[in-house]
Parts: sequence; structure tokens; C-alpha cells
Amino acid sequence: MESGSLKTTHNIIDLGLGHPSLSLLPLHEMEKAMNRVLHRKNPEFLQYGRALGDDASRLILARFLSEVNEECITPEGLFITNGISQGLDLACTLFTGRHDTIFVEEPTYFYAHTIFSDHHLNVIGIPVDDQGITIEALEDMLRVYSPAFLYIIPPFQNPTSVSLAPDRREKLLTLSKKHDFYILSDEAYQLLHYSGPLILPLASMAESEKVISFGSFSKICAPGLRLGWIQAHPSVLRNFTHAGYVVSSGGLNPFTLGIITSFIEAGYQKEHLLYLREKYKKRAYALSSALQKYCKEKTTFTEPRGGFFIWVELESDCDAEELLERAEEKGVSFQPGVRFSHRGKLKNYVRLSFSYYDEEALTEGVRRLSEVL
Ligand SMILES: Cc1ncc(COP(=O)(O)O)c(C=O)c1O
Repeated sequence: MESGSLKTTHNIIDLGLGHPSLSLLPLHEMEKAMNRVLHRKNPEFLQYGRALGDDASRLILARFLSEVNEECITPEGLFITNGISQGLDLACTLFTGRHDTIFVEEPTYFYAHTIFSDHHLNVIGIPVDDQGITIEALEDMLRVYSPAFLYIIPPFQNPTSVSLAPDRREKLLTLSKKHDFYILSDEAYQLLHYSGPLILPLASMAESEKVISFGSFSKICAPGLRLGWIQAHPSVLRNFTHAGYVVSSGGLNPFTLGIITSFIEAGYQKEHLLYLREKYKKRAYALSSALQKYCKEKTTFTEPRGGFFIWVELESDCDAEELLERAEEKGVSFQPGVRFSHRGKLKNYVRLSFSYYDEEALTEGVRRLSEVL
């Protein structure tokens, strides 16, 4: 039986988990990809690598990204990272000083808050509605502050699953040029779209040296790889390749890059991506159908078109953190909305994830939740 399936009925079904089930990790294909690399008898992937990441590997990654995005993405615009979290941390090191102001969406991915707090940044939240970040609120804040950057999750945002509307994207790019701030675009879920059009990486849509897109293999392949990429103008990437951490250690993770290159070359990454889209589409549908069936009167939510999450609004006087204790007694857990707000707001929201459990367990989790609501 699949990990995270109904085998766990008597335990907690944790709808707060934002990672893939073990059964969705491509173990068998990874073994074959590793064997391909080891049998080549070329130890180069065990060497300190080139700062940007190995040229041949970046070419193969660029071809893969171009194919799945139906848009030309060139290797000169790619820098290999240890995943989005590490890329963001490095961007903070390069582009900010202590107590600098940065803007984030409100709500936003909670561990990004932790990264920004490690760098002692002054974080200002800009509200998100069903079209993404609100431009009027951003303009208001730009009259008061000069942010070093705006951190944003344009496709299938964590936690709301909202995507940035095209007209807002254009306004955002204009504002970034006018007020001279970077846009750090977190695209962890960009390739995980289930209905509606594909949303291209922001760096592909902007001829701007101020836009940096962060991609990752964590959600489309396996989080344990700790591998991702930055897509940006080559002149911006020079900041990253000249960072002390990179100069001293060489390219980030040539070993894993060698393996994932073989994984892509063998066609496994494309195959796996298509498989995941099918799986997650069904799970998203199961979770939203269960919410409709069991919690319709007490919740408001939008069906996700991609990503991992459903952002659920509870009745206005409901405190999700208080609810959590009772929910866990009933055998279900979730992420309370307040964790995604740097101001301690959004108390009557919860984030439910459909990435970890199969349809049966998701439905049972929501049924349990309805008992507490
Ligand atoms: C929006 C967002 N960004 C970044 C990450 C982490 O990415 P990585 O594993 O590439 O560091 C996550 C993981 O949940 C996420 O949801």
C-alpha cells in the first residue's frame, strides 16, 4: 500500500505536510540513472565543478526546461543551486545587508520568513488576493520604503495556490525597473500545473536584469536531491558565481547534478513530471471534492489549478490554531494560516496539502476535519 494511504487511519492524517509521498519518489529510475553515470568511468562529477554548474549538464537542463515550457531557455542563463532555499539564502547574502527592507506576499511560504530572519531583514507583507499580489498596496509601500527585493511566488503560490495575473505581472516589472528592486521569483511549483495554461518562468517573460527565477527538483523529482537552478540574465548570475561560498567550493553539488543529468537524458524526468501531474490532479480533485461534501457550510476555498495546496477560509471568528489541538485529537492535522503571515494575522485560514496522501486518505482527513468544524 502507498505510504500515506489509509493504512494510517488510526494515526493522524497530516494535511499540513507539503512533500511528496514516498511512493511518488522515482527510486527505480534513479537507480538506473546513477548506474549510467557510474558505468561511464568518468570521475568528473566527483571533482570540484564549474561555478555555474557543469556546461554539458546545464545544456541538458536548458533543453529539458525549453521543452516543457515550450520556450527557449539557454544554458548561459542558468546557475545550479542546492535548491530554492539555498538560492534564496545566497541571494540575501549578495543583495542585502542587516536590517534592509524587503517585501513579501502576505501570506507567503513560512520557511522563507525564516531565511529572511536569519539575515535580519525588515520584512513588509503585501496582501495577496485571487489575482496575486495587490499592486495598489505595493505602490503604497513603495512610497514609504526602498526594498532590496520583492520575494514572490507567481505560479501556484504557497499557501494560496493563486497565480499572478498577467496584467499585474507587467505592472510589477515596470515597478521593479522604476524603483530599482530585484524580484526573487520562487517557482517551486511552476511545472506542476493541472488545468489552465502553463505559466512561464518570470525570468523568461522579462528582459530585465532585475528578475531572478528560482527553480527546483524538489517537487518535480525528489527533495532529497537538494538540487535546483536559478534562471536570470548572465550579468546577474555573475554575482552568484563570484560569491565566496561558490568561489571556494566550486559549482554547487556536481555529484547530484551528474545524476540528475543522466536522469533527464534517459527521459525519466519528463516521464515523471507527466506522471506527477496526473497523480496530483486526481489528489487535488479528491481534496476539493471532500471539502465540498463535508465542509461546504463552514469553509470557502478555490479549487487549485496547480501546486500542492488548498487555502481554506474558515468562519471569521474561528481560530485555526485553537482548532488544531482538537483536530489532532480527532486524527487530522493541518497548517494554521497564521504561520504564513509575518504579522500574526490570517487566524481563520488553514492550508491543506494534497501532495502526501492518496485520494482515500485525503477524503478521510477532510471527514475528520468536518467533525471538528
Ligand atoms: C514556495 C516554496 N519554495 C521553496 C521550497 C523549498 O524548495 P527547495 O527544496 O528547492 O529548497 C518550498 C518547499 O516546500 C516551497 O513550497
